[in-house]
Amino acid sequence: MDEIRSDSYPLHPAFDPDLAAWLTSLEELTSSEFTIRQATAGSGDARWMRYMQGACEPITPQPESKNNKTIAGQLVYFATIGATQVGFSVSMTGTAASDPVFIQAVGVVGTARGRGIGLALMRTVVEQAPHRNIALATQNDNLAARRMNERFAASIGAELRRVNLGTFKDADLGIRRGLGYRSWTIERSHPTADSATTRME
Ligand SMILES: CC(C)(COP(=O)(O)OP(=O)(O)OC[C@H]1O[C@@H](n2cnc3c(N)ncnc32)[C@H](O)[C@@H]1OP(=O)(O)O)[C@@H](O)C(=O)NCCC(=O)NCCS
Repeated sequence: MDEIRSDSYPLHPAFDPDLAAWLTSLEELTSSEFTIRQATAGSGDARWMRYMQGACEPITPQPESKNNKTIAGQLVYFATIGATQVGFSVSMTGTAASDPVFIQAVGVVGTARGRGIGLALMRTVVEQAPHRNIALATQNDNLAARRMNERFAASIGAELRRVNLGTFKDADLGIRRGLGYRSWTIERSHPTADSATTRME
């Protein structure tokens, strides 16, 4: 995959035959069975990630170069049906022992939604940090994300709890201010000591 070429054109199938082929494969998904794997830097996964970002509004497609850095420096998982990439998650674990795992993005393309892939991506992230709480942010109007997060919290016997924006660094949550974000924690029954969260009054 040619990183420079694909970043210099708009994300549109008319400019990118690989994108056109991928969009076609999304319309032809035959199975509901999916697998989850960790993305690899420098392998072409940065381009798949860009395609998926573009298909998962309100997530913004990023240049492949940026995605490669994210894949190299953070934890990025892909969900795949057959040979087709259908979803991704981006997360990072805080540096202090009491820090949570930050789930910055979960995206599943439209034709693969409603099959439990979003929840499975979240579960995969959280299994990597079994003793940490979880922190994430959602935009006010993103009901699907909010419901998914509530469902995920319930699935591990916890609750989604709103916390003040500013409890965590924007960069750790993967957000920018002024876009209507709310931040949340999911506190596990046996987290590490001294969780750094503040209850919303
Ligand atoms: C949010 C998103 C990742 C969900 O992916 P998904 O694979 O369809 O989610 P799941 O099938 O695992 O559904 C999990 C739960 O989320 C909730 N949910 C998912 N889509 C929903 C919708 N459109 N409306 C209301 N609730 C929804 C449901 O409660 C569902 O559980 P249930 O079916 O047992 O009731 C997907 O809609 C998406 O990519 N949206 C665009 C990107 C985005 O907003 N990402 C989140 C912020 S980074």
